[in-house]
Amino acid sequence: MARIMSGVQPTGNLHIGNYLGALVNWVRLQAEYDAFFSIVDLHALTQRPDPEALRRAVREVAIGVLASGVDPDRATVFVQSHVPQHTELAWVLMCLTPLGDLNRMTQFKDKSHHQPENVNTGLFTYPVLQTADIVLYRADRVPVGEDQEQHLELARETVRRFNHVYGETFPEPQVVKSNAPRVMGLDGESKMSKSRNNEIGLFETADETMQKLRGAKTDPARLRKTDKGTPEVCNIFSYHGFFTSESQREEIAAGCRSAQLGCVDCKKMLCQNMETVKGPIRERAAELRSKPKDLDAILERGAARARAEAEKTMEMVRARVGLGVRA
Ligand code: TYM
Repeated sequence: MARIMSGVQPTGNLHIGNYLGALVNWVRLQAEYDAFFSIVDLHALTQRPDPEALRRAVREVAIGVLASGVDPDRATVFVQSHVPQHTELAWVLMCLTPLGDLNRMTQFKDKSHHQPENVNTGLFTYPVLQTADIVLYRADRVPVGEDQEQHLELARETVRRFNHVYGETFPEPQVVKSNAPRVMGLDGESKMSKSRNNEIGLFETADETMQKLRGAKTDPARLRKTDKGTPEVCNIFSYHGFFTSESQREEIAAGCRSAQLGCVDCKKMLCQNMETVKGPIRERAAELRSKPKDLDAILERGAARARAEAEKTMEMVRARVGLGVRA
């Protein structure tokens, strides 16, 4: 069975960008692939989170992953730091990665800009740890959103370099994009992201979401309800694309164009449709939250399987690069 691997950072709660851009595919692909899904807490350290907040976020994100439909009996769900081989392999790969390749990473530039007081070395070598995450499980495919494509290109380049220097070892991991590879934020200007504060949380209630939607950008040319709108340029209408049936979307588009449907009503319909997805996820999350021992057991089982697979890879890597003493 071919392998997939993917990860999510425990920085705050999951949002619908994570869900539509990645998790939907995690759930779909777990049936066809041997899947490894990780809560990447070592990556989150690059933002120097409060220790208690990080511990809480790891659990909440794991709950979100499971509540979204990832089945721990099918997929291996684990916390990155429970598998020490990630950092060991990251070091080996760092020694193969030219400085210039990391200098080109746009996420490094973005993040440095975002946290100028904490431009640490971990932030710089972040994509190498991400490559280690993937190749440690010799994954063939990686379901992610569009923002991870450059990191995946680097991962492929690193695999080619490793295979060239030390002999064929890893497959080149291919990106699997969902049909929502770049969900925009409520500001309608940048992608939905925890750090931009423009997100709709996966665990939010319908009321909380509606409150956020009220202030969200729509067609900028539609100032009054009586103005005719252009659904194609409206960010809210783009969300309908993910949550609303085609027939209702056609009605909404016609109502918007003729100014018979106002933006608030359009937002209410969206909120209702989103709730049919978020509601059951929230319920499953509450159930998981009420049984913390069960979650511990799932993550321990996941880590044990991940460690076993990771160790197989590391034995091969150590032998190839010349680590370990042999007579
Ligand atoms: P992270 O935690 O930022 O996001 C998790 C996943 O959600 C996707 N995503 C989005 N997709 C569409 N629209 C959006 N607005 C949006 N925002 C986030 C991301 O593309 C990602 O798939 N570096 C990674 C985590 C990581 C990883 C890995 C991923 C670490 N190791 C190994 C894959 C394989 C990150 O920060 O994702």
